[in-house]
Parts: sequence; C-alpha cells; structure tokens
Amino acid sequence: MNRYIVEFKKDKEQESALLTPVIPGKIIKVDFVPLQREIYLPVYYNISLIEGTTRKRIGKLGAWIAENYPLEDYHLRTISQNKTTLLSFKDKKRAILKSPSNNYEIITINKNDLGKRRRERLEKNGFFKGYDIKRNIVIGNYYLFRRKKKIRGLLELEPEFAHTDFLSLVVLDKLLDVLKNKKTKSIESLEGVEDIEEGKYSNFILSHYPVNRVKEAIEYIDQQGEWETFCELADKGKPILLNGPTGCGKSTMIKWYAHINNIPFYMAPTGNRETSMDDIIGSWVPADPKPIKAPGALSLAMVHNGIFYFEEIGPVDPGVLYGLHGVLDDKKLTIQSQYGFEVIEGADNFKMISSGNLDSRYTPIELSDAFLERWAQIKLIYPDKEGTIDILMSRAAGLDEKMATLITELIFDFRNILASYKKDMGLRGAVEVCQASLASKQSLRKLIEVYMLNPKSTYESDQTLYKKLMERVNKRIKG
Ligand SMILES: Nc1ncnc2c1ncn2[C@@H]1O[C@H](COP(=O)(O)OP(=O)(O)OP(=O)(O)O)[C@@H](O)[C@H]1O
Ligand SMILES: [Mg+2]
Repeated sequence: MNRYIVEFKKDKEQESALLTPVIPGKIIKVDFVPLQREIYLPVYYNISLIEGTTRKRIGKLGAWIAENYPLEDYHLRTISQNKTTLLSFKDKKRAILKSPSNNYEIITINKNDLGKRRRERLEKNGFFKGYDIKRNIVIGNYYLFRRKKKIRGLLELEPEFAHTDFLSLVVLDKLLDVLKNKKTKSIESLEGVEDIEEGKYSNFILSHYPVNRVKEAIEYIDQQGEWETFCELADKGKPILLNGPTGCGKSTMIKWYAHINNIPFYMAPTGNRETSMDDIIGSWVPADPKPIKAPGALSLAMVHNGIFYFEEIGPVDPGVLYGLHGVLDDKKLTIQSQYGFEVIEGADNFKMISSGNLDSRYTPIELSDAFLERWAQIKLIYPDKEGTIDILMSRAAGLDEKMATLITELIFDFRNILASYKKDMGLRGAVEVCQASLASKQSLRKLIEVYMLNPKSTYESDQTLYKKLMERVNKRIKG
C-alpha cells in the first residue's frame, strides 16, 4: 500500500489541505479561499504541487455543495494535470468517483463492521470516520483521525492507483463543513439587485442577429420508428435527449427536423469538460462605448423562437447542466446584458434538444437524476444491416447495392473487433468511402483505410488493431 498523510493547515488568511506521501515525494496542496455566507456554485479551489520551495499550480477543484442543495446534487470535480475526476453522491453512505479510466465506489466505513483488532488499532489513534475505496474489491481506504481537536487523514492505496484521483475524497469532509452552512445565491436574489429591463436585450438580438435556418439537410431515414417518436415529442416542445453512439444519426435527425419544419436552428459549441454557461448563453465582447453581451445559441434560440441543440452533453460540467434547469422547467432565462438584467422567454417553437453517448464507458460523469428527469430520452442504436445499406445508398447517389452491402459487412466486421477495444464505429466513415468510391481514383482499400481504419487505430501504440481490421478488409476484398 502507498500511504499519504493529509493535514489541514490554517494561516492568517486561508486554510489548506496538504497531501504528503509517507515515502518522501511531491506534496499536493489544496487551498480553501475564505467564503461569504452566500456563495455562487461551484466554488473553486486551487490545487498546487509543492517541490522544495517551489510551488506550481496544477489544477483546480470545483465543489457543488451548499445548505439548500439536496445530497444527490453534490458533486466535486477536480481537474489537475489534464485529468478530470468527478465525485457524485448516491446517498449518505455511498459515492461514486469517476476518473477517466476507472469508476470507484466510495463507502463510509461502519465501525461495527471492522474487525476487533483493526478497530482498536484505529481508535487508539483517534479514528472517527473512514471510507473504503472499492473497484470491485477494496483497493484503498481513507481514514480520519482526531487528536487534541486537530484532524488528520490517512490515504492508503494499492500502488497502481493514482493518489491525485482521490483529492476530492481527501478534502470531502472539510468541504462539507465549510460549504454546508453556505446559502447559494439564486437568480431570484440577483433579480432584486437590479431592475429587470423589459425586452431591450431581446430587441437587440432580434435586430442584430439574423435568424439561422437549415437550408440544406440530409434526409433522416427511420430505423425503428424513432423518427415518429422524435417528431411527436419535438412538436409538443418537450425537451429531448438523444442517447446513442457516435455516428448513429443523432445530428442528422435534428437537422432534418429543423429543415422540414423550417424552424430556426442554433447549435451550442460541442460539449466538453470546459464548456461554460457563457458558451451557451452568451459572453461579453469589447465594444465602444461599453462591452456588449454576444448572445449564445440558447439565447438566440429563445429570442428567435427556434431549436437549441446541445451536442455531446456527456462530458459537460454538472454545474453548467444545473444552469439549464430553469430553462427546462419554464422556458425562462435571466440574462445580464449591457441593458442590465432581463428575463427572456422561449415561445411556441422554442425547443431544447441535446445529444450524447451516455454510456458509462464513454461518459466520465454521472448525470444527476434531477437533470435526466427533465428530458424525454430516446435511445438510438446503430441501424441493422438492411438499414445501413439503405442509408449508404441514399447518401451516395448512384452507388450499387453490391458495394453498399460490402461496406456494410465491413462495418459489422469492424464493430466486432472494435468492441474489445471499447470503441464504436459510426456510419460517417462508411458514407465517405461510398461517396468517394464514385469519384476518386484511389483504390477501395485505400479509401477504407483513410476513412474507416486509420481514425480508429491512430492511438493504438502497436499495430495489432490496424492489422486485425485490415485482415477483414483483405478477406472481403480479394485481389
Ligand atoms: N438514420 C439515418 N438517416 C440518414 N443518415 C444517417 C442515419 N444514420 C446515420 N446516418 C449518416 O451517418 C453519418 C453520421 O450521422 P450523424 O452525424 O447524424 O451522427 P451523430 O449520431 O450525430 O454522431 P456524433 O455523436 O458523432 O455527433 C452521416 O453521414 C449521416 O448521414
Ligand atoms: Mg452529431
């Protein structure tokens, strides 16, 4: 077991937690900034690496915890050295910690379940609380000890696990103490601060930002009746979450709907770990005489009475997704702009549609039930062989059925192999091979390599995956 001592320090201005390996090494420090009684969530804390006398900032930790928050909505996220972990809560005794490569179950230790000797040994040192870290089996623990009012922690981990993945667990009890007595500043309390302007910002958007329509679109070919379900829900204005693997037609479906119904269409930047509310609602840009708020896709969709499409919500920060709750509930959004605060409201055609591949293999974050329950969810899967052939023939006009069948067989071959590498294969590459085969001088083998094989095997350090896939190509294409 690797062991790390956790100390909580307080100097004049701020408190911090220090994580020190028992075998001398680099020390990690999390700073706790002093907070007001009322806070905006998330609250961010800096993470630094201390080596001798030098100190380098290596990330941050964001906490979504406050007095008026339900436990299920508690999240702690750390982003350090380009790795993100997320701790979310199931109930008072259990939490899930997701790192990019692992899921851990964090369970509060029940003292009575401990063996007599272990309990006595721990209690002698002032043990009062602890967690088991499980990944199928217990791979580590975090114990808290109190001696003469001073609290210290001990993190123990099997050697192959990174202690930096557990920073959020290490500071959890500290944060609960600090944050649970804080009230979140809600939008309502903001409204009281400044008068709400009537319609000025909406008018600004209407007169400065033209309506965006989908003039050309690819026809969506229904597979199993999902198109009808989608249209029914979308017509009613119900928020829809399309859940399906990459390249299964999610974007195609939405754009086709916007196109044939001639509804204005606005797409948020593709969701990622850094997506912020500003990316969706709007951000300040310098202007003369004072900065203006450039509206984001959500504000545009609400004001122009159209569709807001948010692609890839899987990796998006829960804090950002909470920000959407108000809009999801009553189609209202309070915006601060150059005109002050204003409530904008979506009209009849305003629709929120999001998509993602919400599979625990691909999504490092557990979306909260509160978020998920606000959407109707349509699960999409890849079309069967017949459906795939139909799609390929419709996307590459003039393609003969033999070729469509060959490429379809290859997609299915490839998926079989890719499954053990936890990879999917959508239709995008296959569509491109089909289209190119009609016009390109390159051999079919080359086209398949460029559009379908290489994108999947690029990150494999050895050539095995590439070779396995190529074997299938050679089997299907003779000569
Ligand atoms: N049912 C379908 N009807 C028409 N085209 C389809 C269908 N399913 C897949 N396609 C084709 O597959 C390709 C990928 O589709 P699309 O971009 O809609 O996938 P996606 O699910 O949005 O993928 P991602 O999650 O990667 O964004 C496109 O060329 C699209 O034309
Ligand atoms: Mg898409």
